[in-house]
Amino acid sequence: MATNRKILILGSAGQLAKAFISSLEQRGMDFVAPAESESSITDFDQISRLLDKTKPGIIINCAAYNAVDAAEEDPETALLVNARAVENLAQQCEKRSLFLVHYGSDYVFDGNKGDLYTEEDDPNPLNVYGRSKLEGEVAVREIMSRYLVFRLSWVIGPGTQNFLHKLSGWAEQNRILKISADEVSVPTFTDDVVKVTLLALEKGLQGLYHLTNSSYASRYELARYYIEKTGRQNIVVPVPMSSFKTAARRPLFAAMSNRKIQKELGIDIPTWQEGVDRFCERSS
Ligand SMILES: NC(=O)c1ccc[n+]([C@@H]2O[C@H](COP(=O)([O-])OP(=O)(O)OC[C@H]3O[C@@H](n4cnc5c(N)ncnc54)[C@H](OP(=O)(O)O)[C@@H]3O)[C@@H](O)[C@H]2O)c1
Repeated sequence: MATNRKILILGSAGQLAKAFISSLEQRGMDFVAPAESESSITDFDQISRLLDKTKPGIIINCAAYNAVDAAEEDPETALLVNARAVENLAQQCEKRSLFLVHYGSDYVFDGNKGDLYTEEDDPNPLNVYGRSKLEGEVAVREIMSRYLVFRLSWVIGPGTQNFLHKLSGWAEQNRILKISADEVSVPTFTDDVVKVTLLALEKGLQGLYHLTNSSYASRYELARYYIEKTGRQNIVVPVPMSSFKTAARRPLFAAMSNRKIQKELGIDIPTWQEGVDRFCERSS
């Protein structure tokens, strides 16, 4: 593990990055999290200068293009941010012997397995976003000698770019909420991602891991749990995902197993329900 423990956070305005910033501040750890205008991962020269100037030992890349439907119309941008820029970052980090933490996605899978996906399963993305995320993680794994790639799913944290925030908005406007019951994965809370990432760094773990909260849920189950937990009176109706016409195809059952990371670190990662409970306490 790097002796230089200074951390550089990229993608500082995103929900995962914000959770890192608040946790690193609380822990009094040495880190920098420049604004995107000073750290755009698609500006290769800027990234090179930033690494030379800030001299981190560890880079945590939270930057990503996550607009799954928009990526179908604009594959160039999705591939630039999620694949080419990550490939460049990996090359620059490797050249300087830095440690890179990068995040992948459950959308690298096609959802046809019928069981929880493990790190040994072959990816087969159904959409542009999934392909771009796969290319990014493959670049890190091929180029870097010291890295962590964590595949995440349904990330929920501070800010507005997550399902629970959108659900709250829909619940204000509509009494009846139609939510897909056959779209399944694992709601994963940024606090838990941060905790596990920092522990993995502390313990010197390397390689590819699935990092999710424990258990899994359909969007419908997640919505019902959240609506009940927040004391709302909305009626949540289960519908098939096919009733929503979206630009991108999505996997039906993309839930991943977090067994490997729990075993390696000797920890129990909280269930997604505990994550929702915490999220509600914070937002109340
Ligand atoms: N969100 C999910 O449900 C989900 C699911 C599976 C995996 N993941 C992965 O988890 C990681 C963290 O995601 P998140 O939920 O925190 O995403 P997020 O909230 O969308 O944050 C990503 C951040 O990256 C920024 N960004 C975009 N292009 C950039 C560039 N060229 N240079 C620097 N920053 C750039 C975005 O800015 P703008 O908003 O201005 O574009 C945004 O602030 C990502 O790798 C993501 O792919 C997320």
